[in-house]
Amino acid sequence: MDYLEITGGKKLSGTVTISGAKNAALPIIAATILSDKEVTLTNLPNVVDIRTLLKLLTMLGGTVDHDNTTAHINNGSISSHKAVYEIVSQMRASILVLGPLLARFGECEVSLPGGCAIGQRPIDLHLKALESMGAHIEIKGGYVRAEAPDGLKGAKIIFDKITVGGTENIVMAAALAKGTTTIINAAKEPEIVQLCEMIMDAGVKIEGIGSSELTIEGTSGKPLKFKTVEIIPDRIEAGTYLCAGAITSSSITLEKVDPGHIRASIDKLESMGCSFDITDDSITIHPSDDLKPVNLITIEYPGFPTDMQAQFMAVAALAKGESLIEERLFENRFMHVSELNRLGADIWLKGSIAAVKGVETFNAADVMATDLRASSALVLAALVADGTTHIRRIYHLDRGYDDLEGKLSALGADIVRKKEER
Ligand code: EPZ
Repeated sequence: MDYLEITGGKKLSGTVTISGAKNAALPIIAATILSDKEVTLTNLPNVVDIRTLLKLLTMLGGTVDHDNTTAHINNGSISSHKAVYEIVSQMRASILVLGPLLARFGECEVSLPGGCAIGQRPIDLHLKALESMGAHIEIKGGYVRAEAPDGLKGAKIIFDKITVGGTENIVMAAALAKGTTTIINAAKEPEIVQLCEMIMDAGVKIEGIGSSELTIEGTSGKPLKFKTVEIIPDRIEAGTYLCAGAITSSSITLEKVDPGHIRASIDKLESMGCSFDITDDSITIHPSDDLKPVNLITIEYPGFPTDMQAQFMAVAALAKGESLIEERLFENRFMHVSELNRLGADIWLKGSIAAVKGVETFNAADVMATDLRASSALVLAALVADGTTHIRRIYHLDRGYDDLEGKLSALGADIVRKKEER
């Protein structure tokens, strides 16, 4: 197994190019099931989760020609409607094939994703919404078995809770349903906006894009013909590099980024004392040598993203004073706390709130990555820790950060990937 060896204390400088967004690419790859023609996707991030979902398409019978950042996908030849446990257990986002498979073929079986490191993450809202659209659903042998032999019907869906994946699944299902679907309390993330735009560009009428109420007029089962889609920049990768600038007191420039998507992270870093030069597609962070503490609450977009909580905790752990960080979306997204404390942080947890008392320095230690964003928080801390830190279980990082060590090395970090000796 690979691990990262990071020797802290190096200043970073230069420019980093932000990759395409994993969380935009995943639903867009799933949406290609709505078509029986070839679709080209560009600016894909070169990460494991993308390869996993593309593999699922080939297991269903689709053809995929993928070369790191571009994929030509043709789902005209899909012959199986079953997303097997072997793949879904590797990546929860595989549940995103449920809506499109059911909408296009009138039946499918998708393995239940189960819980994961950051929380239970049920899919009850996805299932309830598909049932309102006329699907018959049963859970058997660990699989969701869904049927809609006469096709899905448009419905009014009110989500009890804002759900990104749930909104994506229903937007995709609604695109081929009979009649109009209205989604109330829809998620508004930029990734959902891009999914809606892709479907709208294929001729489906969608109103309310980017708002919490979406109206979709389905094609009554007619498959879509998509134009080429260029995946939007990854706002979480971008935010992570801004945190790298802040924590190492370095001025770095992010290119191919959409500053409008990371306003919440920029605002919080400004309140901590950092300043920024921003253009349409680049951001330069000017750090502060005297980081102020920060209070933040994770909430749905455009609020502060849960996917940036761990990285901000690493930065706040070196601020002068006490920060309060509240996690409202996932019940177990604090696993980085004990690892950051191993590096010398002073963080105290009570329920969903972390009290972070700023310390002078981190000290290198052996730590373990526990989930994707928790892992990036450990990398950030290691960049400034005194000595050499080893981070194990970095397969979590490989799922979602495109060439993290290559990009950080190019900025001047001392970071090397090594193989565990057996
Ligand atoms: C997406 O997950 C992202 N994943 C996550 O990013 C992100 O943390 C999350 O949205 C929140 O922003 C992808 O886009 C692939 P949700 P998703 O449904 O869709 C509860 C990363 O690090 N809920 O919006 O699974 C759920 O348990 C990942 O890149 C139900 O109760 O998130 C959670 O508490 C991790 N029932 C809340 O809603 C349901 O049926 C929000 O989850 C669905 C969700």
